Amino acid sequence: MKTLVILISGRGSNMQSLLDADLNVDRRVVISNNPDAEGLRIAQRYGVETFVINHRQFPDRQTFDAALAEKMAIFQPKLIALAGFMRVLTDEFVQRYQDRLINIHPSLLPAFPGLSTHARALREGVKIHGCTVHFVTPQLDHGPIIIQAAISVLPQDTEASLSQRVLQQEHRIFPQAVRWFIDGQLKLTNGVVEINNASTSNITLYSPGLAE
Ligand code: GRF
Repeated sequence: MKTLVILISGRGSNMQSLLDADLNVDRRVVISNNPDAEGLRIAQRYGVETFVINHRQFPDRQTFDAALAEKMAIFQPKLIALAGFMRVLTDEFVQRYQDRLINIHPSLLPAFPGLSTHARALREGVKIHGCTVHFVTPQLDHGPIIIQAAISVLPQDTEASLSQRVLQQEHRIFPQAVRWFIDGQLKLTNGVVEINNASTSNITLYSPGLAE
């Protein structure tokens, strides 16, 4: 049985993109560390099994991750997708699931790891911003990159407008990365991801555009 485990902490829009996607899995399971996560209600509407492992009920990261690992031992996931999961996992957990643990991050890594990526992008004046799906490694937001989407930063952009346009792209690249993984099209060699049969069109994004 191929099980996809999706870990969430909040809104759950990336989770929803994985629930909507046509994926070759037998079972999708959603786990939240936050009992109030809006995503839990969405998952329930989809009729997906949901579980809460409330991090506040554990004295430290190690014991929380041990409880999470216990659940993984039951589900034996083919893949664990971090979809807005806001807990930093212990090195031990990450190492154990390293080659089947992926994350969606709202920046073009390695730029802007961590939080508040859109505000930081605006502050730095970058003209191109975006999102990344990557394998998770012990170093936060630094694992091998699977796919990225880039968008132009517009002069009138605010944190909210930027985050909204990036999120639309997150919802496109996350299901794509998961599908590649599930279908066995991703190969990880020395920390670099190779994708079987991926389109290799060469597109240049100018931002702002070149003068005519
Ligand atoms: C997304 O921007 C994701 O990239 C980041 O946290 C946000 C979660 O949004 N890690 P949602 O819960 O998927 O709607």
